[in-house]
Parts: sequence; structure tokens; C-alpha cells
Amino acid sequence: MDFKTQAIGPAGLAGIAADALLILVAGTAAPEGLDAPLAEVLAAAVKDGDFAFKAGQTLYAHRAAGVKAQRLLFASLPEATPKGLRRAIGLALGYVKSGGARQLAVALAGGAAWTPALAEALVQAVAESVYLYSATKPSAPPPARLATVSLLCGKAEASALGAGLRRGEAIGAGTRLARELANRPANHCTPTYLAEQARKLGREQGLKVEVLERKDCEKLGMGAFLAVAQGSDEPLKFIVARWNGAAKTEAPLVLVGKGITFDTGGISIKPAAEMDEMKFDMGGAASVLGTLHAVAALKAKVNLIGLIPACENMPSGRAVKPGDVVTSLSGQTIEILNTDAEGRLILCDALSYAERFKPAAVVDIATLTGACVVALGHHRSGLFSADDALARALLEAGEAALDPAWRMPLDDEYDEALKSHYADMANVGPRAGGAITAAMFLKRFTAKLRWAHLDIAGTAWRSGAAKGATGRPVPLLVNFVLSHAR
Ligand code: BES
Ligand code: MN
Ligand code: ZN
Repeated sequence: MDFKTQAIGPAGLAGIAADALLILVAGTAAPEGLDAPLAEVLAAAVKDGDFAFKAGQTLYAHRAAGVKAQRLLFASLPEATPKGLRRAIGLALGYVKSGGARQLAVALAGGAAWTPALAEALVQAVAESVYLYSATKPSAPPPARLATVSLLCGKAEASALGAGLRRGEAIGAGTRLARELANRPANHCTPTYLAEQARKLGREQGLKVEVLERKDCEKLGMGAFLAVAQGSDEPLKFIVARWNGAAKTEAPLVLVGKGITFDTGGISIKPAAEMDEMKFDMGGAASVLGTLHAVAALKAKVNLIGLIPACENMPSGRAVKPGDVVTSLSGQTIEILNTDAEGRLILCDALSYAERFKPAAVVDIATLTGACVVALGHHRSGLFSADDALARALLEAGEAALDPAWRMPLDDEYDEALKSHYADMANVGPRAGGAITAAMFLKRFTAKLRWAHLDIAGTAWRSGAAKGATGRPVPLLVNFVLSHAR
């Protein structure tokens, strides 16, 4: 899909040639200065009780008299904020995305002005609402015909708003990639497939991609990662993808994504209900690839490295058993009391591996704990960091991207829970505070790093009727990485 700015000609909005014209009506009263044919449609609808100037209201008119666009849409936007705009676009697109319109022109009326942030939100909202999974579903409806979206604005603002559109496009494409990867079933999206997709992304976007195999991980001593992978017949992959957008001397940012392509729980096996959703347990890995895609597409002047430990967590005759003790890459030993707490085991070795890059900061992203879903539900991701400045930067990036997170504690007191009789630490504590003890476990591997952890167990996918990957937290991560670019 193509996004661009378009100047409003002398014929005004009524004279805009487009398959569909969407007018976002800012404010809480009839907008002033609207062309007569448009104002008349709106006034009549208000009079008939079919439209009001409050959030959630939309109106559709087909071939309205005196209006050049065949399809005329209004959406109320009492407050012209990115959040309000996202909702309004989602509702308004419901009318056109499955119809015949190929071009959509979007205007802002009612005294509010476009900003780059609104332009960015527009693109993200359109990209989000036209997405449809079809990779393994031949009977899925055909993709939306919508091909061009133009933002109607004045000449003077076009260049600044164009930059907002470009950012939105990159975030939209990165989010889409993350959704595609995470939605794919686990028999398709294996560790090998993830590695292939990373290589493909590398070719297309100019990333350096390297994939470590089991032998390489053995040589390095990644005993925790290997222990999780050993129960599966699918070969493990450790993906290293690098975007070199800045000088070599510039310390990179490192993103570590949990890449469990299916989590059965292992010998500590999960109950059957909803176990299918554990194909989404590589949502962190998907978000790392999505972020790399966006950052490379924008040619951002920043060095960014994505690390993805990828494997399945399966029960088998070779699987790791409760009580087994393994030696991590850091040299610390771990008693695996619960094989279902596998995410932290693959992440801890990846975090130790990150040290070699002398990074400016490391952020891991993982569908790590059911406890985080209990704590925060599905709106905010859990954020853990001992570094206040890093935590603030991530929280702000999330707010700005409408992809919010919430900071959780990491007090030393929580570390008690990980004591083990047989190793330096256990991989689980008691039920209480499960999201925090998981983060405390990871913290033990980050003494040499400026580190933050995002638990996206509640935000990476939706369950139920609208089941599917969200692509979160790609918007947060892209904003965060771009804030480091020069
Ligand atoms: N991938 C799961 C976390 C998860 C569970 C995310 C359900 C979303 C929904 C993770 O590997 C896991 O199994 N965690 C355990 C940890 C426990 C054994 C300490 C959990 O949360 O139950
Ligand atoms: Mn698990
Ligand atoms: Zn898991």
C-alpha cells in the first residue's frame, strides 16, 4: 500500500477525486468552513439522529450530490490525538476495506491540524485494520483492494507530514511481519523457518545475518539453551541479525527475542486447553525481526543487533527433566525445577552472548509468564529494568507509539525465591510474583549490561473470536531505537 500527502485543490474537499473520501471531524460541534455539499450531508445526518460529534460515530454516504468521490465517510474525532485517530480510522475503514475502493483520501476538519504523529498514527491504523492472515487459509477473503491512501493537507506541511507517513509505513510493515511470523502455525514456523526468514530479511533490507547451529552453541557452552532444545527433533537455531546504520565505533543496541516456536511445557507439560496458543511463544522473536525490518527500511543511523534463541519446548525421551542441573553460558548453574519455565533458560544464554557486543543497552522481549497476564491484562506489557533512564525511555517510546508498557519492580528481596539446594539458582520460585521472579532470574545474567526486559505474554496476541498476533511491541521498539539514532 502506498501512502502520500496530497494538496487540497481549488475545488476543495468536495472536488477531491478519490474512490473514497474520509473526513475526520475534530471537535464537538459541526465543523466550520466545510464545503456546502459535505456540510449538507453531515447536517442532515445529525438532524436525523444518525451522527453525533462524539467518539465512535461514523457516517457513510454513497455518491452524495455535489461530491466528486463516490464514497463519502465521516468519522467523529472529538480530540485529535493519535489514540482517537486510531479508533476512528479502524471504524471508518470497516466501510471501505472489503469494498471496491482503491484510493482513499483522508482529511482533517473542524479546526484541528495534522501533525507528523497523527500522520504516523494514520498509517499504522490503516495497516493494522487491513491486515488479514491467509498464509495457511486458501479460503480467506481476498486482500483489501485499497492501494493508495492520501493525506489531504496544505503544501507547507506536506514535507513534515510525509516524514510521519514514512515512519508509520515502516512501523506498519514491521508490525505486519511480526504478525505474519507469529500467526503461522508451529509446524510451519519452526526454528529453521525463523532462521530462513531472518536470512531473507537480511537480503532484502541489507542486514548481516548469521545463524549458530547446535554444535556452535555447544562449543560456546550455552547449556541452558541446549537443555530446552534437547527434547525436540527440530534443530535449534541461534539467530544473530545486525543492522549497521552508524559508525563502527558507535555501541549497538541489542534486542533479544524469545523464540520458542512451540511451548508444550516439556516434561512439566501444559494442560490441553488453549495449548495451540503456545505457537505464539516466539512473539518476542517476531517483534525483533519486525523491528529490524522497520529500522533498516528507514535506514536509521543506529547500530542494532537482534539475537534470537529459537527452539521448541517438547517432552521426549531426551527431554530435560525436573531437577536436572545445567551450566549456563555465564558459568552459573541452574536447577530446572519446572521445564515449562523454559523462556528464561534460552534468554539467559542469549543475554550472556550479548556481552560480546559491548552494547549501549540490551532489551529482551518475551512471552515469558502467565503471571504477567494476571498482573497487567492485555493492554500494557510488563517492563522491568534496574536502570531508571532506560526504563523511562522505553515507557515513553511505548506511550508515543500507542503500544504502552508498565514498570514492574526488581527489588533484591524477590531474589530469595530462586534459591536452590543443588545449583546456583532454581529456574522457578513460588507462584506469587511469578512475572517478577522470572525477571529476577534474567537479572542474574545482566551484571555487565544496561538491561531491560519486556514481558509481552498479555500483549503479543489476542485469544478468542479475534485470535491472532498483534505484532506488539514493534511500535514501542521502533520508537525506542529511533530515539537513539543520530
Ligand atoms: N510461554 C509461557 C508463558 C505464557 C503462558 C504466556 C500463558 C502466555 C500465556 C512460559 O514459557 C511459561 O510456561 N511460563 C510458566 C512459568 C511457570 C512454570 C513458573 C507460566 O507462566 O505458567
Ligand atoms: Mn513454558
Ligand atoms: Zn514459553
